[in-house]
Amino acid sequence: ATLSGCGLNPSPGQTAELLRSAAPLPEAFKVPLPIPPVKKPIRSDAKSDYFRVVQRKATVEILPGLKTEVLGYDGLLPGPTFDVRSGRTTVIEQVNQLDVPTVVHLHGGHTPATSDGWPLDLLMPNGHHGDHADHHGMTGGDVKTGTRTYTYPNTQRAATLWYHDHRMDYTAPQVYRGLFGLHLIRDDEEDRLPLPAGEREIPLVIADRAFAADGSFRYPARTDGPGVESEYMEGVIGDVILVNGAPWPVLEVDAARYRFRILNASNARRYELALDRGPAKLVQIGSDGGLLDAPIEHDSVVVAPAERFDIIIDFSQYEVGTELTLLNKLDSGRAGQVMRFKVARKVTDESNIPAKLSSYAEVVEPAGLVRRKWRFTRGNAGNHKGWTINGKVFDPKTMQATVKLDQYEIWSFVTDVHHPVHVHLAPFQVLRRGGKGPGAFDRGWKDTVDVRPAEVVDVLVKFSAHKGKFMIHCHNLEHEDMAMMAAFETV
Ligand code: C2O
Ligand code: CU
Repeated sequence: ATLSGCGLNPSPGQTAELLRSAAPLPEAFKVPLPIPPVKKPIRSDAKSDYFRVVQRKATVEILPGLKTEVLGYDGLLPGPTFDVRSGRTTVIEQVNQLDVPTVVHLHGGHTPATSDGWPLDLLMPNGHHGDHADHHGMTGGDVKTGTRTYTYPNTQRAATLWYHDHRMDYTAPQVYRGLFGLHLIRDDEEDRLPLPAGEREIPLVIADRAFAADGSFRYPARTDGPGVESEYMEGVIGDVILVNGAPWPVLEVDAARYRFRILNASNARRYELALDRGPAKLVQIGSDGGLLDAPIEHDSVVVAPAERFDIIIDFSQYEVGTELTLLNKLDSGRAGQVMRFKVARKVTDESNIPAKLSSYAEVVEPAGLVRRKWRFTRGNAGNHKGWTINGKVFDPKTMQATVKLDQYEIWSFVTDVHHPVHVHLAPFQVLRRGGKGPGAFDRGWKDTVDVRPAEVVDVLVKFSAHKGKFMIHCHNLEHEDMAMMAAFETV
């Protein structure tokens, strides 16, 4: 991976890893939880819905009384939510009005390679052009200027997907500044269930950030050079927890069941979410790839970067007036809190959690499958320190595997330290973790799995439909930018 210091690198400020805000931290549980707006199509036909998104800078108020410049889809952090039907194609014209190249990836999408967000398929801002990509050593991609159209067939079951920037070497700073949003796919199977819906189906997009005294985002500058370890090598963790873009927000709820679509959109922070008081449990009904076969009750849920958990909380178990805090048990202090719920009123609740949710079936592990091992370790990325897969830094010209479509394979992920491993194009099922069965949070179809230090996770995966170049990478975004990515080809 080439890292070049040039005008397009958006990184003021400099500190490493746990970034502390210089701005005063706001009082918690004052700001109402915002809900990202649902994007409206500009037109629709029998098979497709057409959208237009402008990637632009905007000044927003995140910390009360201060202004933050974001890079946002439609100028929003998070971007607008796409709410689409399985089997209907989503066509999105992306317009780049920023001053940096971008790449859009639909995370969890069963997407043809041409729209999947290959990290060199740059969308240059107007006024820049392909030469600029050359100048960055970022050649070999399909470079467009001004606008680019992404086509998502959505040929997959209902699920909570998300979209975010995927520019080679610069994904982390660009997502940090706002380039991420939700893409929900719905289908008839899910619609038939009596799950909480409408006002009681709520996205919770959790992301940590750090702020400078003037309210701008703090993010370390890259410090590259021979033998130099980037200051953000380990991953950037901020001290302010945002949910849907608001710091430690509060949500007034009815004494009823709510469905929360939880996404960890943080660059590097993982969370262990739990309520500060019972008796309600976190009832998991879905994961990255849609509904589970049956609900699972958890006291707490560990969510690594890019993972999604579809969770129901039944607030009818509390008196009106009760306040509950959603905690992050992996941290203490301010980072140990996420948001608050206030039970506001008694209501009648028609919703339910059926004992059987979907026809999702666990795949029985067939014998004699192709096996591949992917080792995620520290290493040398060119002439600076970085992260590697199977000992190699990301090289877009080298395919680390050639995979036949429509055949199950067993992929083993082996790590040195914690890495959330993400595979493009196909979901997988976790077969084993650390020599035992799947872990408590591994159920369902996943596209990102949190692999713990010195652990092996085996997954069963099958790619289908789309031939081309795709990626496997760590979803700690700083690790990803520091070259922890490998390309593979489907044939
Ligand atoms: Cu969410 Cu390749 O990324
Ligand atoms: Cu990693």
